[in-house]
Amino acid sequence: MKTKTKIVEYHLEASAFSWEISSGKTIEAWGFNKQVPGPELRAKAGDTVIVKLTNNLSEQTLIHWHGIRLAAGMDGTDAVQKPILPGETFEYRFIVPDAGTFWYHSHANETVQMEKGMYGALIVEDTADEIITDAERVFIIDDMKLDANGAFTKPRWFIPRVVERHDGRQGNTLLINGKENPTIQMLAGQRERWRFINASSAHYFDLNLAGKEFSIVGTDGGLLESPRPVRSQLITPGERFDIIVGPFEEGDIVFMESLAYNRMTFLKPRREKFATIQVGHRAPSIAQVPNTLRAIPQLAAFHAEINRRIVLSVGPSLKDGMDFLINGSVHVNDKPVKVGELQVWEIVNASLMDHPFHLHGFFFQVLEENGKQPDFASWKDTINLKPRSATKIAWMPDNRPGTWMYHCHILEHHQAGMMANFEVVADGMPVREIMSHAHKHHH
Ligand code: C2O
Ligand code: CU
Repeated sequence: MKTKTKIVEYHLEASAFSWEISSGKTIEAWGFNKQVPGPELRAKAGDTVIVKLTNNLSEQTLIHWHGIRLAAGMDGTDAVQKPILPGETFEYRFIVPDAGTFWYHSHANETVQMEKGMYGALIVEDTADEIITDAERVFIIDDMKLDANGAFTKPRWFIPRVVERHDGRQGNTLLINGKENPTIQMLAGQRERWRFINASSAHYFDLNLAGKEFSIVGTDGGLLESPRPVRSQLITPGERFDIIVGPFEEGDIVFMESLAYNRMTFLKPRREKFATIQVGHRAPSIAQVPNTLRAIPQLAAFHAEINRRIVLSVGPSLKDGMDFLINGSVHVNDKPVKVGELQVWEIVNASLMDHPFHLHGFFFQVLEENGKQPDFASWKDTINLKPRSATKIAWMPDNRPGTWMYHCHILEHHQAGMMANFEVVADGMPVREIMSHAHKHHH
Protein backbone atom coordinates (compact mmCIF):
# COMPACT_ATOMS: atom_id res chain seq x y z
CA MET A 1 0.00 0.00 0.00
CA LYS A 2 1.49 3.27 -1.06
CA THR A 3 -0.99 5.62 0.55
CA LYS A 4 -3.33 5.48 3.48
CA THR A 5 -6.90 4.74 2.52
CA LYS A 6 -9.75 6.32 4.32
CA ILE A 7 -13.47 6.13 4.78
CA VAL A 8 -15.58 8.58 2.82
CA GLU A 9 -19.15 8.90 3.99
CA TYR A 10 -22.19 10.38 2.25
CA HIS A 11 -25.87 10.59 2.97
CA LEU A 12 -28.30 10.49 0.07
CA GLU A 13 -32.00 11.11 0.34
CA ALA A 14 -34.21 9.98 -2.54
CA SER A 15 -37.30 12.15 -2.86
CA ALA A 16 -39.61 14.09 -5.15
CA PHE A 17 -39.02 17.83 -5.48
CA SER A 18 -39.38 20.59 -8.00
CA TRP A 19 -36.34 21.35 -10.10
CA GLU A 20 -35.72 24.31 -12.35
CA ILE A 21 -34.23 23.10 -15.64
CA SER A 22 -34.08 26.61 -17.09
CA SER A 23 -35.25 29.98 -15.89
CA GLY A 24 -38.99 29.76 -15.20
CA LYS A 25 -39.23 26.13 -16.33
CA THR A 26 -39.77 23.80 -13.42
CA ILE A 27 -40.38 20.07 -13.41
CA GLU A 28 -41.49 17.59 -10.76
CA ALA A 29 -38.25 15.66 -10.50
CA TRP A 30 -37.19 12.65 -8.48
CA GLY A 31 -33.63 12.58 -7.36
CA PHE A 32 -31.04 12.63 -4.60
CA ASN A 33 -30.73 15.47 -2.08
CA LYS A 34 -33.22 17.55 -4.07
CA GLN A 35 -30.94 18.14 -7.02
CA VAL A 36 -30.49 16.83 -10.57
CA PRO A 37 -27.99 15.28 -10.92
CA GLY A 38 -27.56 14.06 -7.35
CA PRO A 39 -24.49 15.25 -5.43
CA GLU A 40 -21.12 14.48 -7.00
CA LEU A 41 -19.48 11.82 -4.84
CA ARG A 42 -15.68 11.77 -4.75
CA ALA A 43 -13.14 9.38 -3.30
CA LYS A 44 -9.59 8.23 -3.95
CA ALA A 45 -8.80 4.80 -5.34
CA GLY A 46 -8.66 2.36 -2.44
CA ASP A 47 -10.98 4.34 -0.18
CA THR A 48 -13.99 2.79 1.50
CA VAL A 49 -17.18 4.57 0.50
CA ILE A 50 -20.20 4.50 2.76
CA VAL A 51 -23.46 5.84 1.40
CA LYS A 52 -26.51 5.91 3.62
CA LEU A 53 -29.53 6.04 1.36
CA THR A 54 -32.84 7.14 2.82
CA ASN A 55 -35.82 6.49 0.62
CA ASN A 56 -38.38 9.25 0.93
CA LEU A 57 -40.07 8.41 -2.37
CA SER A 58 -43.56 6.97 -2.57
CA GLU A 59 -42.16 3.71 -3.97
CA GLN A 60 -39.25 1.34 -3.42
CA THR A 61 -35.83 1.98 -4.86
CA LEU A 62 -32.23 0.69 -5.16
CA ILE A 63 -28.91 2.27 -6.17
CA HIS A 64 -26.50 0.68 -8.63
CA TRP A 65 -22.87 1.86 -8.61
CA HIS A 66 -22.24 1.68 -12.32
CA GLY A 67 -18.68 0.52 -13.08
CA ILE A 68 -17.44 -0.04 -9.53
CA ARG A 69 -15.82 -3.45 -8.96
CA LEU A 70 -17.51 -4.03 -5.63
CA ALA A 71 -18.83 -7.13 -3.85
CA ALA A 72 -21.94 -8.59 -5.47
CA GLY A 73 -24.09 -7.83 -2.42
CA MET A 74 -23.50 -4.08 -2.88
CA ASP A 75 -24.31 -3.98 -6.62
CA GLY A 76 -27.76 -2.57 -5.96
CA THR A 77 -29.87 -4.86 -8.09
CA ASP A 78 -32.97 -6.73 -6.97
CA ALA A 79 -31.02 -9.97 -7.47
CA VAL A 80 -28.71 -9.18 -4.54
CA GLN A 81 -30.74 -7.10 -2.12
CA LYS A 82 -34.25 -6.43 -0.99
CA PRO A 83 -35.75 -3.24 -2.40
CA ILE A 84 -35.46 -0.26 -0.06
CA LEU A 85 -39.02 0.61 0.91
CA PRO A 86 -40.36 4.13 1.48
CA GLY A 87 -39.11 5.34 4.86
CA GLU A 88 -36.19 2.91 5.02
CA THR A 89 -32.49 3.64 5.09
CA PHE A 90 -29.93 1.27 3.61
CA GLU A 91 -26.20 1.53 4.05
CA TYR A 92 -24.07 0.81 1.00
CA ARG A 93 -20.44 0.17 1.85
CA PHE A 94 -17.73 -0.74 -0.63
CA ILE A 95 -14.12 -0.12 -1.59
CA VAL A 96 -13.51 1.80 -4.81
CA PRO A 97 -10.49 -0.05 -6.23
CA ASP A 98 -10.14 1.80 -9.53
CA ALA A 99 -9.70 5.43 -10.48
CA GLY A 100 -12.15 6.66 -13.09
CA THR A 101 -15.43 8.32 -13.94
CA PHE A 102 -18.27 6.29 -12.51
CA TRP A 103 -21.87 7.02 -11.69
CA TYR A 104 -24.74 5.91 -9.54
CA HIS A 105 -28.35 5.56 -10.52
CA SER A 106 -31.60 4.00 -9.49
CA HIS A 107 -31.89 0.33 -10.38
CA ALA A 108 -35.62 0.05 -9.66
CA ASN A 109 -38.40 1.10 -12.00
CA GLU A 110 -35.62 2.77 -14.01
CA THR A 111 -37.76 3.98 -16.90
CA VAL A 112 -39.54 6.21 -14.37
CA GLN A 113 -36.94 6.84 -11.65
CA MET A 114 -33.94 7.53 -13.90
CA GLU A 115 -36.05 9.50 -16.35
CA LYS A 116 -37.07 11.80 -13.48
CA GLY A 117 -33.48 12.44 -12.41
CA MET A 118 -32.23 9.68 -10.09
CA TYR A 119 -28.56 9.65 -11.04
CA GLY A 120 -25.26 11.29 -10.13
CA ALA A 121 -21.50 11.10 -10.65
CA LEU A 122 -19.07 9.06 -8.58
CA ILE A 123 -15.53 10.22 -9.33
CA VAL A 124 -12.64 8.12 -8.12
CA GLU A 125 -9.35 9.97 -8.20
CA ASP A 126 -6.04 8.32 -8.84
CA THR A 127 -3.40 8.95 -6.24
CA ALA A 128 -0.77 8.77 -9.01
CA ASP A 129 -2.64 10.46 -11.88
CA GLU A 130 -0.12 12.63 -13.72
CA ILE A 131 -2.63 14.56 -15.79
CA ILE A 132 -2.56 18.21 -14.73
CA THR A 133 -5.19 20.52 -16.17
CA ASP A 134 -6.35 24.05 -15.42
CA ALA A 135 -9.78 22.83 -14.38
CA GLU A 136 -11.85 19.67 -14.21
CA ARG A 137 -15.57 19.41 -14.88
CA VAL A 138 -18.13 16.63 -14.92
CA PHE A 139 -20.88 16.75 -17.54
CA ILE A 140 -23.85 14.45 -17.21
CA ILE A 141 -25.86 14.09 -20.38
CA ASP A 142 -29.60 13.50 -20.13
CA ASP A 143 -32.86 14.23 -21.87
CA MET A 144 -36.40 14.29 -20.61
CA LYS A 145 -39.66 13.85 -22.46
CA LEU A 146 -41.90 16.66 -21.24
CA ASP A 147 -45.20 18.10 -22.37
CA ALA A 148 -45.92 21.82 -22.81
CA ASN A 149 -46.52 22.15 -19.05
CA GLY A 150 -43.22 20.53 -18.16
CA ALA A 151 -44.87 17.29 -17.04
CA PHE A 152 -43.41 13.88 -17.83
CA THR A 153 -45.48 12.18 -20.50
CA LYS A 154 -46.04 8.55 -21.27
CA PRO A 155 -47.53 7.54 -24.62
CA ARG A 156 -51.13 6.43 -24.23
CA TRP A 157 -51.90 4.79 -27.56
CA PHE A 158 -50.58 1.55 -29.01
CA ILE A 159 -48.45 2.94 -31.84
CA PRO A 160 -46.66 5.64 -29.79
CA ARG A 161 -46.15 3.07 -27.03
CA VAL A 162 -44.53 0.68 -29.51
CA VAL A 163 -42.35 3.51 -30.82
CA GLU A 164 -41.14 4.32 -27.30
CA ARG A 165 -40.53 0.66 -26.54
CA HIS A 166 -38.59 0.28 -29.77
CA ASP A 167 -36.58 3.53 -29.75
CA GLY A 168 -36.28 3.90 -26.00
CA ARG A 169 -37.59 7.05 -24.39
CA GLN A 170 -35.92 9.79 -26.37
CA GLY A 171 -36.59 13.18 -24.79
CA ASN A 172 -37.42 16.57 -26.24
CA THR A 173 -35.64 18.45 -23.44
CA LEU A 174 -31.86 18.20 -23.53
CA LEU A 175 -29.98 18.53 -20.27
CA ILE A 176 -26.39 18.93 -19.15
CA ASN A 177 -26.07 18.60 -15.39
CA GLY A 178 -29.82 18.99 -15.01
CA LYS A 179 -30.01 22.27 -16.94
CA GLU A 180 -31.24 23.15 -20.42
CA ASN A 181 -28.56 24.68 -22.62
CA PRO A 182 -26.36 25.93 -19.77
CA THR A 183 -23.60 28.46 -20.44
CA ILE A 184 -20.15 27.32 -19.41
CA GLN A 185 -17.46 29.93 -18.80
CA MET A 186 -13.93 28.94 -19.65
CA LEU A 187 -10.69 30.91 -19.96
CA ALA A 188 -8.72 31.28 -23.18
CA GLY A 189 -5.37 29.54 -23.40
CA GLN A 190 -6.31 26.88 -20.87
CA ARG A 191 -6.81 23.17 -21.06
CA GLU A 192 -9.42 21.35 -19.01
CA ARG A 193 -10.38 17.78 -18.22
CA TRP A 194 -14.03 17.06 -18.89
CA ARG A 195 -15.63 13.85 -17.68
CA PHE A 196 -18.75 12.89 -19.62
CA ILE A 197 -21.39 10.49 -18.36
CA ASN A 198 -24.42 9.58 -20.47
CA ALA A 199 -27.29 9.09 -18.00
CA SER A 200 -30.12 9.29 -20.53
CA SER A 201 -32.64 6.54 -21.14
CA ALA A 202 -31.76 6.13 -24.80
CA HIS A 203 -30.09 9.25 -26.19
CA TYR A 204 -27.01 8.58 -28.30
CA PHE A 205 -24.69 11.55 -27.85
CA ASP A 206 -22.03 12.12 -30.51
CA LEU A 207 -19.93 14.84 -28.87
CA ASN A 208 -18.87 17.69 -31.11
CA LEU A 209 -17.22 20.97 -30.02
CA ALA A 210 -17.58 23.11 -33.15
CA GLY A 211 -15.40 20.60 -34.98
CA LYS A 212 -12.42 21.44 -32.75
CA GLU A 213 -9.98 18.71 -31.85
CA PHE A 214 -10.02 17.24 -28.34
CA SER A 215 -8.23 14.26 -26.80
CA ILE A 216 -9.74 11.22 -25.19
CA VAL A 217 -7.74 10.22 -22.12
CA GLY A 218 -10.10 7.85 -20.34
CA THR A 219 -13.07 5.53 -20.76
CA ASP A 220 -15.37 3.54 -18.43
CA GLY A 221 -12.51 1.79 -16.62
CA GLY A 222 -10.06 4.69 -16.30
CA LEU A 223 -7.19 6.05 -18.36
CA LEU A 224 -6.16 4.94 -21.84
CA GLU A 225 -2.52 4.13 -22.57
CA SER A 226 -2.09 7.47 -24.32
CA PRO A 227 -4.30 10.41 -25.34
CA ARG A 228 -6.27 9.95 -28.59
CA PRO A 229 -6.98 13.12 -30.57
CA VAL A 230 -10.44 13.13 -32.20
CA ARG A 231 -13.05 15.62 -33.44
CA SER A 232 -16.12 13.74 -32.25
CA GLN A 233 -16.90 10.91 -29.88
CA LEU A 234 -20.00 8.78 -29.58
CA ILE A 235 -21.08 8.37 -25.94
CA THR A 236 -23.95 5.90 -25.60
CA PRO A 237 -26.21 5.48 -22.55
CA GLY A 238 -24.12 4.24 -19.60
CA GLU A 239 -20.74 5.07 -21.16
CA ARG A 240 -18.13 7.54 -19.86
CA PHE A 241 -15.36 9.41 -21.61
CA ASP A 242 -12.72 11.69 -20.12
CA ILE A 243 -11.42 14.25 -22.56
CA ILE A 244 -8.92 17.10 -22.60
CA VAL A 245 -10.24 20.24 -24.30
CA GLY A 246 -8.65 23.52 -25.29
CA PRO A 247 -6.90 25.81 -25.57
CA PHE A 248 -9.61 28.03 -27.07
CA GLU A 249 -9.28 31.67 -28.15
CA GLU A 250 -10.60 34.69 -26.27
CA GLY A 251 -14.16 35.45 -27.37
CA ASP A 252 -14.82 31.98 -28.83
CA ILE A 253 -18.35 30.69 -28.48
CA VAL A 254 -18.36 26.93 -28.80
CA PHE A 255 -21.52 24.85 -28.88
CA MET A 256 -21.45 21.51 -27.15
CA GLU A 257 -23.46 19.48 -29.58
CA SER A 258 -24.40 15.98 -30.44
CA LEU A 259 -24.03 15.20 -34.12
CA ALA A 260 -26.86 13.27 -35.76
CA TYR A 261 -26.28 9.58 -35.13
CA ASN A 262 -28.49 7.06 -36.82
CA ARG A 263 -29.15 4.20 -34.43
CA MET A 264 -31.97 2.93 -36.65
CA THR A 265 -34.93 4.25 -34.71
CA PHE A 266 -38.34 5.45 -35.87
CA LEU A 267 -37.31 8.94 -34.73
CA LYS A 268 -35.07 10.73 -37.22
CA PRO A 269 -31.56 11.48 -35.93
CA ARG A 270 -30.80 15.18 -35.55
CA ARG A 271 -27.89 17.41 -34.67
CA GLU A 272 -28.65 18.96 -31.27
CA LYS A 273 -27.19 21.60 -29.00
CA PHE A 274 -26.73 20.71 -25.32
CA ALA A 275 -24.65 23.61 -23.94
CA THR A 276 -22.79 26.78 -24.88
CA ILE A 277 -19.17 27.44 -23.95
CA GLN A 278 -18.12 31.08 -23.64
CA VAL A 279 -14.40 31.67 -23.71
CA GLY A 280 -13.26 34.63 -21.61
CA HIS A 281 -9.94 36.45 -21.27
CA ARG A 282 -6.59 34.79 -21.70
CA ALA A 283 -4.98 33.15 -18.69
CA PRO A 284 -1.76 31.24 -18.12
CA SER A 285 -1.93 27.45 -18.20
CA ILE A 286 -0.35 24.87 -15.96
CA ALA A 287 -1.76 21.96 -17.98
CA GLN A 288 0.45 18.94 -18.60
CA VAL A 289 -0.87 15.83 -20.25
CA PRO A 290 1.78 13.13 -20.55
CA ASN A 291 1.98 11.03 -23.71
CA THR A 292 2.08 7.84 -21.71
CA LEU A 293 -0.80 7.57 -19.26
CA ARG A 294 -0.46 3.95 -18.18
CA ALA A 295 -0.07 0.42 -19.56
CA ILE A 296 -3.14 -1.74 -20.20
CA PRO A 297 -2.05 -5.39 -20.29
CA GLN A 298 -3.93 -7.40 -22.88
CA LEU A 299 -6.30 -9.90 -21.25
CA ALA A 300 -6.49 -12.27 -24.19
CA ALA A 301 -5.26 -12.69 -27.74
CA PHE A 302 -7.35 -11.29 -30.55
CA HIS A 303 -8.16 -14.83 -31.81
CA ALA A 304 -8.79 -16.31 -28.30
CA GLU A 305 -11.36 -19.09 -28.30
CA ILE A 306 -14.92 -18.00 -27.56
CA ASN A 307 -16.49 -19.67 -24.51
CA ARG A 308 -19.90 -17.99 -24.60
CA ARG A 309 -22.11 -16.53 -27.28
CA ILE A 310 -24.85 -14.06 -26.39
CA VAL A 311 -27.39 -13.07 -29.04
CA LEU A 312 -29.40 -9.86 -28.72
CA SER A 313 -32.48 -9.66 -30.92
CA VAL A 314 -35.92 -8.15 -31.26
CA GLY A 315 -38.94 -10.41 -31.61
CA PRO A 316 -42.68 -9.86 -32.05
CA SER A 317 -45.01 -9.64 -29.06
CA LEU A 318 -48.79 -9.55 -29.34
CA LYS A 319 -49.24 -7.41 -26.26
CA ASP A 320 -46.47 -4.85 -26.70
CA GLY A 321 -45.60 -5.01 -30.38
CA MET A 322 -42.12 -6.38 -29.71
CA ASP A 323 -39.89 -7.96 -27.11
CA PHE A 324 -36.18 -7.40 -26.61
CA LEU A 325 -34.43 -10.72 -26.30
CA ILE A 326 -31.28 -12.37 -25.01
CA ASN A 327 -30.74 -15.75 -26.66
CA GLY A 328 -34.36 -15.76 -27.79
CA SER A 329 -35.91 -15.11 -24.35
CA VAL A 330 -36.77 -12.21 -22.09
CA HIS A 331 -35.24 -11.64 -18.60
CA VAL A 332 -32.83 -14.56 -18.83
CA ASN A 333 -30.83 -16.57 -16.31
CA ASP A 334 -27.54 -17.24 -18.04
CA LYS A 335 -25.04 -19.99 -17.15
CA PRO A 336 -22.62 -19.37 -14.26
CA VAL A 337 -18.96 -18.44 -14.71
CA LYS A 338 -16.11 -19.60 -12.48
CA VAL A 339 -13.80 -17.37 -10.51
CA GLY A 340 -10.42 -17.16 -12.22
CA GLU A 341 -11.62 -18.55 -15.58
CA LEU A 342 -11.02 -16.13 -18.42
CA GLN A 343 -14.27 -15.26 -20.19
CA VAL A 344 -14.26 -14.70 -23.92
CA TRP A 345 -17.74 -13.76 -25.01
CA GLU A 346 -19.03 -13.12 -28.46
CA ILE A 347 -21.94 -10.72 -28.28
CA VAL A 348 -24.01 -10.83 -31.40
CA ASN A 349 -26.44 -8.06 -32.15
CA ALA A 350 -28.83 -9.78 -34.53
CA SER A 351 -31.26 -6.86 -34.51
CA LEU A 352 -31.45 -3.95 -36.92
CA MET A 353 -30.71 -1.26 -34.32
CA ASP A 354 -27.89 -0.31 -31.93
CA HIS A 355 -27.75 -1.49 -28.29
CA PRO A 356 -25.36 -0.30 -25.54
CA PHE A 357 -24.35 -3.52 -23.73
CA HIS A 358 -23.45 -3.16 -20.03
CA LEU A 359 -21.77 -5.75 -17.80
CA HIS A 360 -22.15 -5.11 -14.06
CA GLY A 361 -19.18 -5.22 -11.72
CA PHE A 362 -16.35 -6.16 -14.11
CA PHE A 363 -14.37 -4.41 -16.81
CA PHE A 364 -13.84 -6.06 -20.14
CA GLN A 365 -11.61 -5.49 -23.16
CA VAL A 366 -12.90 -5.58 -26.70
CA LEU A 367 -10.90 -8.13 -28.70
CA GLU A 368 -12.63 -7.58 -32.00
CA GLU A 369 -15.67 -6.07 -33.60
CA ASN A 370 -16.85 -7.78 -36.78
CA GLY A 371 -13.45 -9.41 -37.08
CA LYS A 372 -11.51 -6.17 -36.65
CA GLN A 373 -9.26 -5.43 -33.69
CA PRO A 374 -9.81 -2.09 -31.96
CA ASP A 375 -7.21 0.61 -32.67
CA PHE A 376 -6.33 1.03 -29.00
CA ALA A 377 -6.69 -0.77 -25.67
CA SER A 378 -9.21 0.32 -23.05
CA TRP A 379 -11.20 -1.00 -20.10
CA LYS A 380 -14.95 -0.86 -20.66
CA ASP A 381 -18.14 -1.83 -18.86
CA THR A 382 -20.52 -0.53 -21.53
CA ILE A 383 -20.06 -0.83 -25.27
CA ASN A 384 -22.19 0.05 -28.25
CA LEU A 385 -23.22 -2.88 -30.43
CA LYS A 386 -23.96 -1.86 -34.00
CA PRO A 387 -26.84 -3.50 -35.89
CA ARG A 388 -25.99 -6.95 -37.29
CA SER A 389 -22.62 -7.07 -35.54
CA ALA A 390 -20.49 -9.47 -33.54
CA THR A 391 -18.27 -8.11 -30.76
CA LYS A 392 -15.79 -10.30 -28.92
CA ILE A 393 -14.93 -9.26 -25.38
CA ALA A 394 -12.67 -10.72 -22.68
CA TRP A 395 -13.03 -10.34 -18.92
CA MET A 396 -11.78 -12.06 -15.80
CA PRO A 397 -14.13 -13.01 -12.96
CA ASP A 398 -12.02 -12.19 -9.92
CA ASN A 399 -12.96 -13.49 -6.50
CA ARG A 400 -16.32 -11.74 -6.07
CA PRO A 401 -18.87 -14.55 -6.19
CA GLY A 402 -22.56 -13.80 -6.32
CA THR A 403 -25.27 -12.81 -8.74
CA TRP A 404 -24.36 -10.34 -11.47
CA MET A 405 -26.07 -9.11 -14.57
CA TYR A 406 -25.67 -7.72 -18.05
CA HIS A 407 -28.21 -5.79 -20.05
CA CYS A 408 -28.88 -3.24 -22.73
CA HIS A 409 -28.57 0.22 -21.16
CA ILE A 410 -31.48 1.60 -23.18
CA LEU A 411 -33.80 1.48 -20.21
CA GLU A 412 -36.90 0.51 -22.18
CA HIS A 413 -35.03 -2.41 -23.77
CA HIS A 414 -33.77 -3.59 -20.40
CA GLN A 415 -37.34 -3.42 -19.11
CA ALA A 416 -38.66 -5.20 -22.21
CA GLY A 417 -36.43 -8.20 -21.51
CA MET A 418 -32.94 -7.52 -22.87
CA MET A 419 -31.13 -8.54 -19.66
CA ALA A 420 -29.66 -11.59 -17.94
CA ASN A 421 -28.54 -12.56 -14.47
CA PHE A 422 -25.72 -15.01 -13.97
CA GLU A 423 -23.70 -16.34 -11.07
CA VAL A 424 -20.01 -15.98 -10.48
CA VAL A 425 -19.12 -19.14 -8.59
CA ALA A 426 -16.04 -20.22 -6.65
CA ASP A 427 -14.87 -23.83 -7.23
CA GLY A 428 -17.93 -24.55 -9.33
CA MET A 429 -20.23 -24.22 -6.32
CA PRO A 430 -22.63 -21.30 -6.08
CA VAL A 431 -21.78 -19.16 -3.11
CA ARG A 432 -24.73 -17.76 -1.26
CA GLU A 433 -24.90 -14.04 -1.15
CA ILE A 434 -24.51 -12.46 2.21
CA MET A 435 -27.47 -10.16 2.33
CA SER A 436 -26.64 -6.87 3.89
CA HIS A 437 -29.06 -5.71 6.48
CA ALA A 438 -31.21 -2.70 5.89
CA HIS A 439 -31.11 -0.27 8.75
CA LYS A 440 -34.66 0.76 9.19
CA HIS A 441 -35.77 3.94 10.77
CA HIS A 442 -39.24 5.14 10.14
CA HIS A 443 -40.17 8.76 9.81
CU1 C2O B 1 -26.00 1.54 -15.30
CU2 C2O B 1 -27.75 -2.20 -14.64
O1 C2O B 1 -26.93 -0.33 -15.04
CU1 CU C 1 -31.15 -1.98 -26.58
